[in-house]
Amino acid sequence: MTDIDLTPGFVVHRGRGAFNAAFFGAMGPVLEQSLRPHKRRVFADLPTTVVELGAGVGANLRYLSPGSTLVAVEPNVPMHRRLQAAAHRHGIDLDLRERVAEHTGLPDRSVDCVISSLVLCTVADPAAVLAEVRRILRPGGTYRFVEHVAAKDGTPTRWVQRVLRRPWAWTFEGCSCERDLAVALRAAGFDHVGIDPFRLHTPFVPFNTQIAGIARA
Ligand SMILES: C[S@@+](CC[C@H](N)C(=O)[O-])C[C@H]1O[C@@H](n2cnc3c(N)ncnc32)[C@H](O)[C@@H]1O
Repeated sequence: MTDIDLTPGFVVHRGRGAFNAAFFGAMGPVLEQSLRPHKRRVFADLPTTVVELGAGVGANLRYLSPGSTLVAVEPNVPMHRRLQAAAHRHGIDLDLRERVAEHTGLPDRSVDCVISSLVLCTVADPAAVLAEVRRILRPGGTYRFVEHVAAKDGTPTRWVQRVLRRPWAWTFEGCSCERDLAVALRAAGFDHVGIDPFRLHTPFVPFNTQIAGIARA
Protein backbone atom coordinates (compact mmCIF):
# COMPACT_ATOMS: atom_id res chain seq x y z
CA MET A 1 0.00 0.00 0.00
CA THR A 2 1.28 3.47 -0.81
CA ASP A 3 0.72 6.79 0.88
CA ILE A 4 -1.24 9.59 -0.71
CA ASP A 5 -0.11 13.14 -0.03
CA LEU A 6 -3.09 15.29 -0.93
CA THR A 7 -3.19 18.06 1.66
CA PRO A 8 0.12 19.88 2.26
CA GLY A 9 1.45 18.60 5.59
CA PHE A 10 -0.88 15.59 5.75
CA VAL A 11 -0.22 12.10 4.45
CA VAL A 12 -2.91 9.42 4.34
CA HIS A 13 -1.92 5.80 4.10
CA ARG A 14 -4.28 4.31 1.51
CA GLY A 15 -5.13 1.16 3.46
CA ARG A 16 -5.27 2.69 6.92
CA GLY A 17 -7.07 5.79 5.67
CA ALA A 18 -9.84 3.56 4.34
CA PHE A 19 -9.71 1.37 7.48
CA ASN A 20 -10.12 4.39 9.74
CA ALA A 21 -12.99 5.76 7.70
CA ALA A 22 -14.71 2.36 7.94
CA PHE A 23 -13.77 1.94 11.64
CA PHE A 24 -15.25 5.27 12.65
CA GLY A 25 -18.25 4.63 10.42
CA ALA A 26 -18.89 1.31 12.21
CA MET A 27 -17.63 1.98 15.77
CA GLY A 28 -18.63 5.64 15.83
CA PRO A 29 -22.16 4.98 17.14
CA VAL A 30 -20.79 2.77 19.95
CA LEU A 31 -18.16 5.32 21.03
CA GLU A 32 -20.73 8.06 20.66
CA GLN A 33 -23.01 6.47 23.27
CA SER A 34 -20.28 6.73 25.92
CA LEU A 35 -19.24 10.23 24.89
CA ARG A 36 -22.75 11.62 24.48
CA PRO A 37 -23.36 13.03 27.99
CA HIS A 38 -20.08 14.94 27.84
CA LYS A 39 -20.63 16.17 24.29
CA ARG A 40 -24.20 17.25 25.14
CA ARG A 41 -22.76 19.49 27.83
CA VAL A 42 -19.90 21.15 25.91
CA PHE A 43 -21.64 21.20 22.51
CA ALA A 44 -24.89 22.64 23.93
CA ASP A 45 -26.43 25.64 22.14
CA LEU A 46 -23.94 25.78 19.28
CA PRO A 47 -24.31 28.83 17.02
CA THR A 48 -25.63 28.32 13.50
CA THR A 49 -22.11 28.42 12.00
CA VAL A 50 -19.45 26.21 13.54
CA VAL A 51 -15.90 25.29 12.51
CA GLU A 52 -15.00 21.68 13.25
CA LEU A 53 -11.41 20.44 13.24
CA GLY A 54 -11.03 16.85 12.03
CA ALA A 55 -14.74 16.29 11.49
CA GLY A 56 -14.11 12.68 10.42
CA VAL A 57 -17.27 10.98 9.21
CA GLY A 58 -19.57 13.41 11.02
CA ALA A 59 -19.92 12.15 14.62
CA ASN A 60 -20.75 15.66 15.84
CA LEU A 61 -23.30 16.70 13.24
CA ARG A 62 -26.11 15.69 15.60
CA TYR A 63 -25.14 18.52 17.98
CA LEU A 64 -25.85 21.18 15.33
CA SER A 65 -29.36 22.39 14.57
CA PRO A 66 -30.64 21.42 11.13
CA GLY A 67 -30.00 24.27 8.70
CA SER A 68 -26.70 25.17 10.40
CA THR A 69 -23.43 25.50 8.51
CA LEU A 70 -20.45 23.34 9.40
CA VAL A 71 -17.06 24.45 8.16
CA ALA A 72 -15.30 21.09 8.37
CA VAL A 73 -11.51 21.15 8.33
CA GLU A 74 -10.75 17.54 7.36
CA PRO A 75 -7.59 16.64 5.45
CA ASN A 76 -8.35 12.93 5.28
CA VAL A 77 -10.02 12.46 1.89
CA PRO A 78 -11.18 8.86 2.54
CA MET A 79 -13.50 10.37 5.21
CA HIS A 80 -15.12 12.89 2.89
CA ARG A 81 -17.77 10.77 1.21
CA ARG A 82 -19.22 9.55 4.52
CA LEU A 83 -19.03 13.07 5.99
CA GLN A 84 -20.92 14.53 3.04
CA ALA A 85 -23.61 11.84 3.26
CA ALA A 86 -23.97 12.37 7.03
CA ALA A 87 -24.26 16.15 6.60
CA HIS A 88 -27.00 15.59 4.04
CA ARG A 89 -28.88 13.26 6.43
CA HIS A 90 -28.66 15.79 9.30
CA GLY A 91 -29.72 18.74 7.12
CA ILE A 92 -26.39 20.53 7.67
CA ASP A 93 -24.89 22.82 5.08
CA LEU A 94 -21.35 21.44 4.76
CA ASP A 95 -18.43 23.66 3.81
CA LEU A 96 -15.68 21.04 3.53
CA ARG A 97 -12.07 22.24 3.61
CA GLU A 98 -9.36 19.76 2.72
CA ARG A 99 -6.81 21.37 5.04
CA VAL A 100 -4.99 20.67 8.29
CA ALA A 101 -6.10 22.25 11.57
CA GLU A 102 -2.69 23.87 11.96
CA HIS A 103 -3.48 25.99 8.85
CA THR A 104 -7.22 26.37 8.40
CA GLY A 105 -6.90 29.26 5.94
CA LEU A 106 -9.74 31.07 7.78
CA PRO A 107 -9.33 34.81 8.48
CA ASP A 108 -8.24 36.21 11.86
CA ARG A 109 -11.06 36.69 14.41
CA SER A 110 -13.71 35.46 11.99
CA VAL A 111 -15.32 32.61 13.91
CA ASP A 112 -17.61 32.36 16.97
CA CYS A 113 -17.18 28.69 17.70
CA VAL A 114 -14.68 25.90 16.99
CA ILE A 115 -15.28 22.31 18.05
CA SER A 116 -13.25 19.11 18.01
CA SER A 117 -13.50 15.58 19.31
CA LEU A 118 -10.68 13.04 19.35
CA VAL A 119 -8.50 15.18 17.11
CA LEU A 120 -5.77 16.85 19.21
CA CYS A 121 -4.42 13.34 19.82
CA THR A 122 -3.73 12.95 16.10
CA VAL A 123 -2.68 16.35 14.78
CA ALA A 124 1.05 16.76 14.15
CA ASP A 125 1.33 19.81 16.41
CA PRO A 126 -1.35 20.40 19.07
CA ALA A 127 0.21 23.72 20.21
CA ALA A 128 0.10 25.03 16.62
CA VAL A 129 -3.55 23.94 16.31
CA LEU A 130 -4.48 25.72 19.54
CA ALA A 131 -2.68 28.86 18.34
CA GLU A 132 -4.66 28.62 15.10
CA VAL A 133 -7.92 28.27 17.04
CA ARG A 134 -7.09 31.40 19.03
CA ARG A 135 -6.19 33.24 15.83
CA ILE A 136 -9.51 32.52 14.09
CA LEU A 137 -11.82 32.98 17.11
CA ARG A 138 -13.46 36.33 17.71
CA PRO A 139 -12.94 37.76 21.20
CA GLY A 140 -15.41 35.91 23.43
CA GLY A 141 -15.66 33.02 20.95
CA THR A 142 -15.43 29.47 22.23
CA TYR A 143 -13.42 26.37 21.48
CA ARG A 144 -15.31 23.31 22.73
CA PHE A 145 -13.54 19.99 22.88
CA VAL A 146 -13.80 16.36 23.91
CA GLU A 147 -10.39 14.73 23.65
CA HIS A 148 -8.57 11.68 24.95
CA VAL A 149 -5.46 12.19 27.02
CA ALA A 150 -2.65 10.42 28.85
CA ALA A 151 -3.70 8.78 32.11
CA LYS A 152 -2.05 9.82 35.38
CA ASP A 153 1.50 8.54 35.78
CA GLY A 154 1.77 5.28 37.67
CA THR A 155 -1.75 4.04 36.86
CA PRO A 156 -2.48 0.76 35.03
CA THR A 157 -4.07 2.71 32.16
CA ARG A 158 -0.90 4.77 31.78
CA TRP A 159 1.09 1.55 31.58
CA VAL A 160 -1.22 0.15 28.86
CA GLN A 161 -0.93 3.43 26.95
CA ARG A 162 2.87 3.21 27.09
CA VAL A 163 2.98 -0.41 25.95
CA LEU A 164 0.48 0.05 23.11
CA ARG A 165 1.62 3.46 21.93
CA ARG A 166 3.31 2.26 18.73
CA PRO A 167 0.68 -0.18 17.37
CA TRP A 168 -2.00 2.32 18.44
CA ALA A 169 -0.35 5.15 16.52
CA TRP A 170 0.26 2.90 13.51
CA THR A 171 -3.35 1.70 13.37
CA PHE A 172 -4.99 5.05 14.02
CA GLU A 173 -2.83 7.12 11.68
CA GLY A 174 -0.56 8.86 14.16
CA CYS A 175 -2.97 9.02 17.12
CA SER A 176 -1.04 9.39 20.39
CA CYS A 177 -2.56 8.06 23.60
CA GLU A 178 0.14 9.83 25.61
CA ARG A 179 -0.64 13.54 25.25
CA ASP A 180 -1.28 15.78 28.24
CA LEU A 181 -3.71 18.02 26.42
CA ALA A 182 -5.02 19.75 29.54
CA VAL A 183 -1.56 21.28 30.01
CA ALA A 184 -1.44 22.27 26.31
CA LEU A 185 -4.88 23.90 26.54
CA ARG A 186 -3.99 25.86 29.68
CA ALA A 187 -0.72 27.01 28.09
CA ALA A 188 -2.36 28.15 24.85
CA GLY A 189 -3.25 31.66 26.01
CA PHE A 190 -7.07 31.47 26.09
CA ASP A 191 -8.86 33.94 28.36
CA HIS A 192 -10.50 31.15 30.30
CA VAL A 193 -10.29 27.36 30.07
CA GLY A 194 -12.71 24.99 31.82
CA ILE A 195 -11.72 21.30 31.70
CA ASP A 196 -13.52 18.27 33.13
CA PRO A 197 -11.64 14.98 33.15
CA PHE A 198 -13.73 11.82 32.82
CA ARG A 199 -13.27 8.14 32.20
CA LEU A 200 -14.89 5.86 29.64
CA HIS A 201 -15.25 2.12 30.14
CA THR A 202 -14.58 0.71 26.68
CA PRO A 203 -12.38 -2.17 25.48
CA PHE A 204 -10.14 0.50 23.88
CA VAL A 205 -8.27 1.05 27.14
CA PRO A 206 -5.69 3.62 25.89
CA PHE A 207 -8.61 5.80 24.86
CA ASN A 208 -10.54 5.70 28.14
CA THR A 209 -9.00 8.74 29.84
CA GLN A 210 -10.74 11.81 28.44
CA ILE A 211 -11.30 15.51 28.97
CA ALA A 212 -14.19 17.74 27.91
CA GLY A 213 -14.32 21.48 28.19
CA ILE A 214 -14.69 24.97 26.82
CA ALA A 215 -11.92 27.51 26.21
CA ARG A 216 -12.88 31.15 25.69
CA ALA A 217 -10.86 33.55 23.51
C1 LIG B 1 -10.01 9.86 15.67
S1 LIG B 1 -10.60 10.72 14.31
C2 LIG B 1 -11.96 11.61 15.03
C3 LIG B 1 -12.99 12.03 14.04
C4 LIG B 1 -14.20 12.75 14.63
N1 LIG B 1 -13.83 14.03 15.15
C5 LIG B 1 -14.87 11.92 15.68
O1 LIG B 1 -14.99 12.34 16.83
O2 LIG B 1 -15.33 10.82 15.33
C6 LIG B 1 -9.34 11.96 14.07
C7 LIG B 1 -9.66 12.88 12.92
O3 LIG B 1 -8.68 13.93 12.88
C8 LIG B 1 -8.33 14.14 11.52
N2 LIG B 1 -7.01 14.77 11.50
C9 LIG B 1 -5.80 14.21 11.63
N3 LIG B 1 -4.81 15.11 11.54
C10 LIG B 1 -5.44 16.30 11.33
C11 LIG B 1 -4.97 17.64 11.16
N4 LIG B 1 -3.67 17.94 11.21
N5 LIG B 1 -5.90 18.59 10.96
C12 LIG B 1 -7.23 18.31 10.96
N6 LIG B 1 -7.72 17.07 11.12
C13 LIG B 1 -6.83 16.08 11.31
C14 LIG B 1 -8.36 12.76 10.91
O4 LIG B 1 -8.45 12.79 9.52
C15 LIG B 1 -9.62 12.20 11.57
O5 LIG B 1 -10.77 12.53 10.87
